[in-house]
Amino acid sequence: MNHSVTIETKKRNPASAPVKSGHLIDRARNAYWMAPMSGITDVCFRQLMDEMGAGVLVSELVSAKGLVFNSEKTCRMIKIHKNPGTLVGLQLFGDYADDFIKVAHLIQEQGADFMDINLGCPVKKVVQKGCGSALMRDPAYLESFLTKIRKNIDLPLTVKMRTGWNDQELTIHECVAAAQNAGCEWVAIHGRTRAQGYQGLADWELMTQVKQRTTLPIIGNGDIRDPERARTLLHETGVDAVMIGRGALRNPWIFKQCTGELGATLDPTRLALLHRFHELLKAHHDTRRTLLYLRKLAVWLAFGYPGASAFRGAMFQTPTTGEVLERAEEYFAAVDDLPVPKFDESEAFMMGGHG
Ligand SMILES: Cc1cc2nc3c(=O)[nH]c(=O)nc-3n(C[C@H](O)[C@H](O)[C@H](O)COP(=O)(O)O)c2cc1C
Repeated sequence: MNHSVTIETKKRNPASAPVKSGHLIDRARNAYWMAPMSGITDVCFRQLMDEMGAGVLVSELVSAKGLVFNSEKTCRMIKIHKNPGTLVGLQLFGDYADDFIKVAHLIQEQGADFMDINLGCPVKKVVQKGCGSALMRDPAYLESFLTKIRKNIDLPLTVKMRTGWNDQELTIHECVAAAQNAGCEWVAIHGRTRAQGYQGLADWELMTQVKQRTTLPIIGNGDIRDPERARTLLHETGVDAVMIGRGALRNPWIFKQCTGELGATLDPTRLALLHRFHELLKAHHDTRRTLLYLRKLAVWLAFGYPGASAFRGAMFQTPTTGEVLERAEEYFAAVDDLPVPKFDESEAFMMGGHG
């Protein structure tokens, strides 16, 4: 275990640190968390990342309104795998506080440890309805919105936001204060404005300032692609934990690398990981969705290796999961001895999402 991990462990284990306003964070397994990603962090992917050592897991965003109307598709999105040692949150979006209150019991019954509210989604369809990052434009309203929800649900409440609407409306300090006054357990911050989308780099300087100005736990997020960067940012910025999104798709071993639990070789191997994901997918999804999700992981795992684009092309033509696994076995056997490709933070990869 390297030096910085020892320092983090001390910081995260608050025997000697002042008690913060939120206690939920003290139950996190470690300070390296899986970021919520729509179409990706469903129950299967969360279980896989749990097994891969992620400290906390958050679902893809789910419509609070959809749950109120009991939409079958939306209700399927709130399934949670059982693992007593793991913190799992369900992320909701909406514009009407009563919707969150009405559905809190549903997500509690599923076994969620906390309700997370999406205040970061930049997508037009979402912000036009006053949801996602639109809620950051009026911090006073945000405080009353969150306070109402907090007072009427039993589950701990957390939020994930951006740094503001645009460079002229960097409301992050005010929105963090709003979340703290409302009684949220922590704030996760994707260090970009809504206007930036996924362009430019996440502003870790600003996240450092936010952390310095608040006693609320802050979770930093954006552009972490390797364990060294994760550990450095955690140590240097003072944030309480970091969330990793796209970096974990291409390198699901990143959490174990961060905590020092991974040895010299990839364990499990790429192929074993794919087989495990297949098992999980089969238990939860129909054949079509199982195939789609399995192909996606196979393609992410191949990124950066020679022949990856041909492999990707072939994967999307592959009609059965059996063939996906066969082709993946062949491909990974050919690249297994090569060094793991570098994933530079400036490299464009999945430049869109709901947060
Ligand atoms: C495909 C995709 C889907 C996403 N979906 C969500 C979501 O449902 N909720 C959310 O809060 N953030 C979502 N995000 C944002 C990520 O959680 C994260 O903030 C962002 O990708 C930056 O972190 P990264 O550089 O580690 O990926 C999504 C991002 C991507 C790329």
